[in-house]
Amino acid sequence: MQHLISTSDFTKNEILELFDDAKMFLDMQSNEILKGKIIVNLFFEDSTRTRSAFEMAAKRLGAQVISLDVGRSSRSKGETIFDTIANINAMSPDAITIRHSECGLPGTLVEHVDCPIINAGDGKNEHPTQALLDLFTIYEHFEGETEGKKIAIIGDVKSSRVAGSNKKLLPTFGIDVNFVAPDCFKYENDEFKQYDNLSEIIDEVDVVMSLRTQLERHNEVYFTSLTEYAKDYCVTKDTFGDRDILLLHPGPVNRNIDISDEMLADPRNKILEQVRNGVAVRMAILKKLIK
Ligand code: NCD
Repeated sequence: MQHLISTSDFTKNEILELFDDAKMFLDMQSNEILKGKIIVNLFFEDSTRTRSAFEMAAKRLGAQVISLDVGRSSRSKGETIFDTIANINAMSPDAITIRHSECGLPGTLVEHVDCPIINAGDGKNEHPTQALLDLFTIYEHFEGETEGKKIAIIGDVKSSRVAGSNKKLLPTFGIDVNFVAPDCFKYENDEFKQYDNLSEIIDEVDVVMSLRTQLERHNEVYFTSLTEYAKDYCVTKDTFGDRDILLLHPGPVNRNIDISDEMLADPRNKILEQVRNGVAVRMAILKKLIK
């Protein structure tokens, strides 16, 4: 049985197959590929896009979804996550998607279940379905010609699971990953190139991915205000100019902190395309994992 815990769980060929399916699903109405299957969504952290995209994907494939309101679940009665999972597993779901603040937790659950586990984000570690939809968006835009393309991922890279998954995934498709961040958000020890300002590499990149400041994961205050941070790290038309660059963001966007209003209205911004692709890519992932 296959799970999706990290982007490294799928080979390049498997990802190319996923992308073929995702392309097909983009042009397709609902179908019955997973008719009779039941998927449980367990989100222990906030989510708008990821949770609804998983639900939408499952329902478009004809599956049924149980999205547990974990705030009202037995966790509040003192049950451990392992016991919760053992109980859910005893009901024989066909897959479990899980988002949790603890890094590595989805991987440890694999031993305790009889169905595929899909990591919908574990702390600041990984968010594989987001990275796969990001790559799909880039892949589609460049019509499969990703080899030699350059991306600048800007913002709170150190605490971002989206950066964590993309830095592993994108190089497998020949994409050169660069990070732009203030010192407090840079990786301490990393093999990737890190810059202080977007203007240092804007002339070389094909894609810019902006990230939200992960305040909920910080245990100290790095900036007196986000406005202070935005002076140097908000993606604006001033930095972008007229360059032919794709602008991405996993959402939720903090307007005029991560990206300016003007750039959010710019046709180079592909954020809603990412969201649309996110349903198709998750449909492909569910189809692949659920037998
Ligand atoms: C991201 C997440 O939750 O990791 N959002 C998402 O899943 N689309 C990024 C974020 O919260 O900043």
